[in-house]
Amino acid sequence: MLLESIKLKQFKNHSDFFGQWQSGFNFIVGPNGVGKTNIIDAIYYTAMLKSYFHNSDKQITQKGTDFYRLEALFSQENSVYKLEVKSSSQIKEIKWDGNIIDKIVDHVGKIPVVLISPDDIFYFFNESEERRKFLNQTIIQFDQNYLNYLIRYTKALKLRNALLKNFNNSKEANYLLDSYDQVLVQTGIYIANKRREVVSQLQIYLEVFVDQISNNFQKSTMIFKSQVDADFDSVLKQNRHKDIVTQRSNFGIHKDQLECTIDLLPIREFGSQGQLKSFILALRLAQYKLMKQIAEKSPMVLLDDIFAKLDADRVNNLLACLEQESVAQCFITDTHIDRIKQLENRIHSNTLILNLSNTNG
Ligand SMILES: Nc1ncnc2c1ncn2[C@@H]1O[C@H](COP(=O)(O)OP(=O)(O)OP(=O)(O)O)[C@@H](O)[C@H]1O
Ligand SMILES: [Mg+2]
Repeated sequence: MLLESIKLKQFKNHSDFFGQWQSGFNFIVGPNGVGKTNIIDAIYYTAMLKSYFHNSDKQITQKGTDFYRLEALFSQENSVYKLEVKSSSQIKEIKWDGNIIDKIVDHVGKIPVVLISPDDIFYFFNESEERRKFLNQTIIQFDQNYLNYLIRYTKALKLRNALLKNFNNSKEANYLLDSYDQVLVQTGIYIANKRREVVSQLQIYLEVFVDQISNNFQKSTMIFKSQVDADFDSVLKQNRHKDIVTQRSNFGIHKDQLECTIDLLPIREFGSQGQLKSFILALRLAQYKLMKQIAEKSPMVLLDDIFAKLDADRVNNLLACLEQESVAQCFITDTHIDRIKQLENRIHSNTLILNLSNTNG
């Protein structure tokens, strides 16, 4: 699936934007604040039906207005598909090919996407929540059950925590707790197993890409740790008292850990800035490769602001890896047209440059 064009109305700073794209490498160039990252976010939205950066539609709607629209055309073989998003405080309507999408699970995965933003380096290594989010973002794109289970798990966990906050130990309260636990068990075991499996698959590619990005072999590993296994039901039962006393759910996949190490030491404490960058880029490439292998199609790759935060060697190695992996369509933002023109000469695939200072509406 190739993104042919995107039309934005009152989407963040873009009052009216129209961009046409090609297969290969699409460069979005322009000065700071012109809206490059916002376009990357809009493209991400077409695949995931949500912003990469924000959780609420209010933050996406242009300030001072009360709705936004997003329209994207995709092509596959000889067919063209249209995605339409209309959002205001009153309605939210999303259509694919003229048909309303009721549930995001019916769309996510149609257009696999990988976003690489160097800001991730800080968040990814500092917050375990971000590492779980990375696993979720990867798996939901090829496993519909996973997304369904994740939605059910999250809902049940929220209700369970609310119940624990005001727990009165009545028969009804315990009965309710039993019913939430049942959902956590049904969904949690599947989610933890899937995460375990995917981490071991990503691990295989991770080492190869770290080597290619940094031109230097360093043993890079990810270790997945979860309290959830086939006995999760008894773990919840045994710890019910603790949960009641502490008024929260202490066990479950929301506590899963993904530990990243370099030469067997925790990378967060012992990795240099360069090693952290190589690790995260390699991990995103591993994500790309795994998704491509499972979906049997090349995910779109979105690279935001990599030039500002990465040295030239890493950028060149990253692009070489993407070419070697035959990426079908890639979007890259930058502030310097000269840098992009130089890079263009080194790339063998199609390239297109969109200079935003001329076209931004
Ligand atoms: N909801 C919104 N309404 C109006 N403007 C917004 C909204 N959300 C973000 N913006 C503005 O969009 C502008 C452009 O942001 P963006 O991050 O896309 O720029 P950029 O071209 O990527 O800049 P940089 O080169 O610094 O990364 C920012 O000034 C921001 O304030
Ligand atoms: Mg930006």
